[in-house]
Parts: sequence; structure tokens; C-alpha cells
Amino acid sequence: MEARMLNLGILASGRGSNFQAIIDEIEAGRLPAVIKLLIVDNAGAYAIERAKKHSIDHLHIGPEASLSRVDYFSAIVRELQKREVELVALAGFMRIVGKPLIDAFPNRIMNIHPAILPAFPGLHGQKQAAEYGVKISGCTVHFVDGGVDTGPVIIQAAVPVSPDDTEDTLSARILKLEHMLYPEALRLYAEGRLRVEGRGVRISGYEMQDGYIVNPPLRKG
Ligand code: GRF
Repeated sequence: MEARMLNLGILASGRGSNFQAIIDEIEAGRLPAVIKLLIVDNAGAYAIERAKKHSIDHLHIGPEASLSRVDYFSAIVRELQKREVELVALAGFMRIVGKPLIDAFPNRIMNIHPAILPAFPGLHGQKQAAEYGVKISGCTVHFVDGGVDTGPVIIQAAVPVSPDDTEDTLSARILKLEHMLYPEALRLYAEGRLRVEGRGVRISGYEMQDGYIVNPPLRKG
């Protein structure tokens, strides 16, 4: 049976490498989705160049043209709804999402965060993790609610952290993983396999494996 196509809207503020990873998965036929629109909040976002290259409809909607936060996010909602967007993916969108957008897309907005939530929410998750001295960090895809990186967790992946890591080295290691994890979360959504239950997200057809990951690995014997 052909999977149905998921209509996606993307919101970004910067370089858009996660946006690119999503484009690549769609073009490779591994993600049954169509990107109906990219919206950026600043005209200089490199994500726009990526949209142009792949003939994706794109808009710059800057907050300066709106009277209030409510007006701003209502303008974004109008454009998404006009194009029948079903799911909104935040890809490096550097704003706290306003109520009109959350109300219009309940449990239909995803975000990727570069840490294992609920650890290190907000800005510079990688720097926070490196400075804290944790041994494992990673990334999280979650649904967006009204808080900062607080919504139901969909999927997470981990990388080891070394005491020599800087924000830059850890960011690079996590980013590679982000580019795999975000399309995977979108794929699960497109396949209708995600169900929000309270704070959590149940993934149908997924069996939890027994076992554990230890960093550094346990010595044998
Ligand atoms: C990523 O690290 C993502 O986790 C965070 O913002 C960054 C965006 O990078 N939310 P890019 O614009 O996708 O390259």
C-alpha cells in the first residue's frame, strides 16, 4: 500500500542543515512527505537558499511587520493553513512559538533539540552539556507545547562526551545524529505511528530492546 504524503511546513532561522536533511530524505524516497512551505523569520537565513535550490515555496515573515506576538504567529498560521500544512517542523527556529500557532497545530509541531531533554533545554544545549561534564549527550525530537523544549518526547539519540569536547566539537557530533533523527521522527509521524499519551509519546510497532549503554564502556573480566 502506498503511504500517504504528509504535508510539511518548516520554520527556520539560520543555516537550515536539518531542513536540508529532511529535503534529502524526501528526495531519496525515504520520507513520504511534501514540503509545502519554508518560513524564515530573518531574511538572511541560509535556509532560503536551500529552498530555492530545491524549488520549495518560501516566505520571509519577520516579526517587525506585526503589531504583536499574537499577530505575528497568526500571520504564520494563515500561510501554513493556506497550503494545507498538516505538520510543522521547527528546524533551528530561534523563537518561542506563540499561542496561535500551538492552538492551530496541537501536537502537530515538532522540534529538534541538541541535548537529551529534559537536560539542558533552551539555548546552547551542547555548550551546557560540555561545561557540565556529562558523559553522554545527544538530541531529542519532541512535540512543541507552550514551554521551552518541554513538550512530549518522541525520539532521542545519544553520543559520548569527552572532557576535551568543546561546544563546537560536541555540536558537530550531535548534528550528524540530528540529521538522521529528525527525518526518522517525521517518518514515524507520516506512517501514523505516533500517539501522544499524557507527557509521553507511544510509538506503535516499536519493541523496546533490553540492555544498556555505558560511557566509557564497562571493562570485561
Ligand atoms: C540544531 O542544532 C538544532 O538542534 C537546534 O538548532 C540547530 C539548527 O541547525 N534547534 P540547522 O539550522 O538545522 O543547521
